[in-house]
Amino acid sequence: MNCIRVNTGIPYDVLIRRGILRDAGAEIKKVKPNTRLAVITDSNVSPLYLHTLLNSLEQAGYRDIPSFTMPAGESTKSLENAGLLYQLLSQAKISRDCCLIALGGGVIGDLTGFVASTYLRGIPFIQIPTTLLAQVDSSVGGKTAVNLPTGKNLVGTFWQPSLVLCDPDTLSTLPEDVFADGVAEAIKCGMIKDAVLFDLLAHQDPQTHLEEIISRCICVKRDVVEKDEHDTGDRMLLNFGHTMGHAVENWMQYQQRHGQCVAVGMVMMVRAQVAAGMLAPTVLEKLLQICQKYCLPVSCSACWEDLFEICRQDKKSTTKGIRAILLRSIGDSYIQPFSFEEFKTFLRGGDQQ
Ligand SMILES: NC(=O)c1ccc[n+]([C@@H]2O[C@H](COP(=O)([O-])OP(=O)(O)OC[C@H]3O[C@@H](n4cnc5c(N)ncnc54)[C@H](O)[C@@H]3O)[C@@H](O)[C@H]2O)c1
Ligand SMILES: [Zn+2]
Repeated sequence: MNCIRVNTGIPYDVLIRRGILRDAGAEIKKVKPNTRLAVITDSNVSPLYLHTLLNSLEQAGYRDIPSFTMPAGESTKSLENAGLLYQLLSQAKISRDCCLIALGGGVIGDLTGFVASTYLRGIPFIQIPTTLLAQVDSSVGGKTAVNLPTGKNLVGTFWQPSLVLCDPDTLSTLPEDVFADGVAEAIKCGMIKDAVLFDLLAHQDPQTHLEEIISRCICVKRDVVEKDEHDTGDRMLLNFGHTMGHAVENWMQYQQRHGQCVAVGMVMMVRAQVAAGMLAPTVLEKLLQICQKYCLPVSCSACWEDLFEICRQDKKSTTKGIRAILLRSIGDSYIQPFSFEEFKTFLRGGDQQ
């Protein structure tokens, strides 16, 4: 088993092992003994894994565990559902000394974390991520959020989990496109900080190396989160490919998956850097090859001018310009501030390449 300690304000462990879901009760007991638990999950995950989790919790001696199954899908991450959960938790007499468990993908993790951080001014929660994206990315780092009709993740908190349990076996039931979303984030982690991870993804069968891939991604995320828990500096490196990726997502009216849009975003940035003579052309070749291996798209039908305008108007852009994430090589990244005009010229170069 891999155990990764994340040293944020209150430190916590991320445990990665095939089959750990069956031992969740024993692991949770080590960090939350004599605590009442409540589980939040979604309608796809519930029939697959809720029973195993509840069994394991009961075997470890936990009793009277309410579970709440939310509809699967991004629209579940809403203030309305947070409100509904506050009521359900209160009716189930969940008090300040209880602990929530998020069993599901990033949607359930973000919603449960948000509810945990605000209900009764904050109660502990545990993440049991069941998508690759949630295992390599969203379950670690303590960002929680719900969406508003005007945009994604616009209301949220920083609230670290007490424990994260990653069971790679749960990924066997994921639809292929959902799995590929997580691969795109793993490629991103390799590109920004871990060339060995990138090579592993490029040359090996990911299914036989899941524990190592997940662990390496979590180490990348841990390193930046420990330096910058509240996202004011280094943590931005995790946005590699995301500035343009979010623009693509927006342009596609959220009809294309996040990982696919991030792949397009990474390619656009690398292409522009190569065109500007800032990066070796082999980096672009390797990125294109790895995207092909995982059936991730490398371009989209939007023109770069439209995507640039979306970036400029993004609610999360500053008024001064864009802080882009660039590469020195695979595994080595940095933050580069651009004015909007400079960024426009940079993107134009990539388009002409
Ligand atoms: N907090 C963060 O730092 C952070 C980082 C990245 C992404 N996110 C958020 O994560 C969300 C996306 O996460 P996601 O891709 O996991 O989406 P998701 O939670 O919607 O899961 C994707 C789909 O897979 C299903 N599913 C989950 N586990 C399954 C399993 N083991 N077998 C079969 N089906 C399963 C879900 O029901 C859903 O239909 C977005 O809302 C995004 O904003 C948060
Ligand atoms: Zn992402």
